[in-house]
Amino acid sequence: MTTMIRNDIKALAAYHVPDSGGMIKLDAMENPYNLPDEVRQEWLEKLALVDLNRYPDSNMLLLRQKIAARDGVEPEQVLLGNGSDEIIQMLLLAMNPGTCVVPRPTFVMYDMVSRWLKRPVASVPLKDDFSLDADYFLQVCGREKAEIAFLACPNNPTGNLWDEAVVQRIARGMSGHLIIDEAYGPFSEHSYTSMISTKVMVLRTFSKLGWAALRLGYLLGDAEQISQLNKVRMPYNINGLTQASALFLLDKSELFEQQAAMICAERERVFERLSRLDQVTLFPSKTNFLLLRVPDAGVLFDGLKKAGILIKNMHGSDPLLTQCVRITIGSKEENSAVIAVIEELLR
Ligand SMILES: Cc1ncc(COP(=O)(O)O)c(C=O)c1O
Repeated sequence: MTTMIRNDIKALAAYHVPDSGGMIKLDAMENPYNLPDEVRQEWLEKLALVDLNRYPDSNMLLLRQKIAARDGVEPEQVLLGNGSDEIIQMLLLAMNPGTCVVPRPTFVMYDMVSRWLKRPVASVPLKDDFSLDADYFLQVCGREKAEIAFLACPNNPTGNLWDEAVVQRIARGMSGHLIIDEAYGPFSEHSYTSMISTKVMVLRTFSKLGWAALRLGYLLGDAEQISQLNKVRMPYNINGLTQASALFLLDKSELFEQQAAMICAERERVFERLSRLDQVTLFPSKTNFLLLRVPDAGVLFDGLKKAGILIKNMHGSDPLLTQCVRITIGSKEENSAVIAVIEELLR
């Protein structure tokens, strides 16, 4: 049967989102804490003021100003996206044709969106301890004449933060553009905004900080490059409810910083508890999730699922992730539940 769909698209697997109804959801790096009641009430009052019949502000100067002030850049250096996923798409759409280079394993959307746009992708395997070899990465960038490279700092799904010297060496050594993705920045206490230049941009999102439902990400870069990228931004890409919510929530930064600190403290507690189990190999994390290797990832995943806990089985997605699972850090109670079930399953 002939169809209208390109064969290479037909060959792709869709981004899979499993059903999590009624489960403890520890598969997608969400913040476990919802808004406190009094903040929620205030937020709802702001939302009630949105004119639903009107298109939202397309320029979003006020929102860009607030984000710029928070991150120490100018509003002209901020590009907003419907999640950072949309910005990855804008970058890969607007940049000169040429290979996209990424480490392996890393966040899947760099590869997936490149494929949608018929951009070649070259991936550079990490070492066994998930460290990144800058020379090898630069060698591949040179060989492929890379136009763009993505480095998630910290990396998903491995959870580690590469040495700053490695990232700086790559930024200096490659002739194409480097996008440093700081999706997990709220948990890493490290940022590369000081490296922003005509060659280096920093990608961020509010998703992991507690606003996943809003779908709001942003790119920080050189003002001229940002204004060029703005040409491939869909008009009104940030909906009116998201804009109103973000303007309100940005004034509550302290609340989300406190939540991130609680998540980091819980990460250390879960790490310590699971590291007591002989059968578990844990990898250091600067994110809101832990990657662990167990004797049988499928058995652990199924056992947790039966107990009503959804995590992510990474086994089979990359040779370096053999028998690995990724567990998002949840609330104290959720984490205690996950620890208890893992202890039971591995006893
Ligand atoms: C490294 C990295 N970048 C970007 C994203 C996408 O985030 P957003 O919700 O802003 O699209 C994720 C989501 O898991 C991620 O892990």
